[in-house]
Amino acid sequence: MLDDVEAVVLVGGKGTRLRPLTLSAPKPMLPTAGVPFLAHLLSRIRAAGVRRVVLGTSYLAETFEEHFGDGGKLGLDLTYVVETEPLGTGGGIANVAEYLTTDDVLIFNGDVLCGTDLGAVVETHRRTAADVTLHLVRVQDPRAYGCVPTDPDGRVTAFLEKTEDPPTDQINAGCYVFKRSVIDSIPRGRVVSVERETFPELLESGARVSGHVDNAYWRDMGTPGDLVHGSADLVRGVAPSAALPGPTGESIVMEGATVAPDAFVFGGSTIGRGVTIGAGAKIESSMIFDGAVIAPGAIVEESVVGAGARIEEAAHIRDTVIGDRAVVGAHCELKGGARVWPDVVLPPHGVRFSADV
Ligand code: GTP
Repeated sequence: MLDDVEAVVLVGGKGTRLRPLTLSAPKPMLPTAGVPFLAHLLSRIRAAGVRRVVLGTSYLAETFEEHFGDGGKLGLDLTYVVETEPLGTGGGIANVAEYLTTDDVLIFNGDVLCGTDLGAVVETHRRTAADVTLHLVRVQDPRAYGCVPTDPDGRVTAFLEKTEDPPTDQINAGCYVFKRSVIDSIPRGRVVSVERETFPELLESGARVSGHVDNAYWRDMGTPGDLVHGSADLVRGVAPSAALPGPTGESIVMEGATVAPDAFVFGGSTIGRGVTIGAGAKIESSMIFDGAVIAPGAIVEESVVGAGARIEEAAHIRDTVIGDRAVVGAHCELKGGARVWPDVVLPPHGVRFSADV
């Protein structure tokens, strides 16, 4: 058990790729399988035996403490540290240094859904007497990521930019173990990126940077597509979490939601509090936030419907993000990455891809 390790979770980013959802909530607080995304990560940190967690916040900083308080409900002791101006991932780590008391510190990007064995990552760090250890996950298609090769001793040899022909399928999974002395060496008070600055500099200086490689479940929830699929994986039990508000299955329906008996809700969908799903509506692999209304006969596939939004009769949305309180008029069709901003009202038949109005 990791009772001699503290954790830092970086949650200060603006989450621009998830706009407009992140206009009203920071990415780690977006409801995911019925609870803020961060609750899933914190539950895994707690399950590994860690008790003290420091959250590095910046954008919409107060929302974290409003929800999680002192962390007691999760069995954690939470400390919040605010960056007035976002300092980047490295700057965020340096900024919490004075709140840390252990020799080894687990550090997480706050938007990663992952099933790795955290105890094993720390074990690799200690066994290899590393200055920093990175969790590296093997992915099927590494072309979309910078990759991180290791030598037969598990020593990281390079940090490579995205390329069409990556030499390894190992990528940075956004979870690290840092020796306290390395945290103290990050420059203070300015923007620093661990990925672009700290890690390459450590390699150059001859520090021991280890890789802990595995094939764990892993997903970075940075884009709407990943958010929707990660949430569906949580609901269906494909991604591990101890924070789900109900049993795993085709859907999670929160308190106070009304789902018509002949509506279809499946594929790992989440139906938020006070949502209404009308007769014959179809909701597949989607996230419907609190208070939204899906009218009879509407179809919602692989999409996020913001709080209080309305999808009117026979509208069809696929691979789309609908902002809070927006209205998608009857018979509208939206697809392929469309984003509707909060409070926008699309009239009936207002946007279509088909000619048969
Ligand atoms: P995009 O704007 O969509 O790229 O999202 P993001 O701002 O969250 O950036 P990114 O996905 O690269 O961030 C990875 C993790 O680091 C997320 O959990 C962020 O909350 C966190 N993060 C990014 N920048 C900062 C920062 O300046 N300070 C702190 N404390 N955390 C940060």
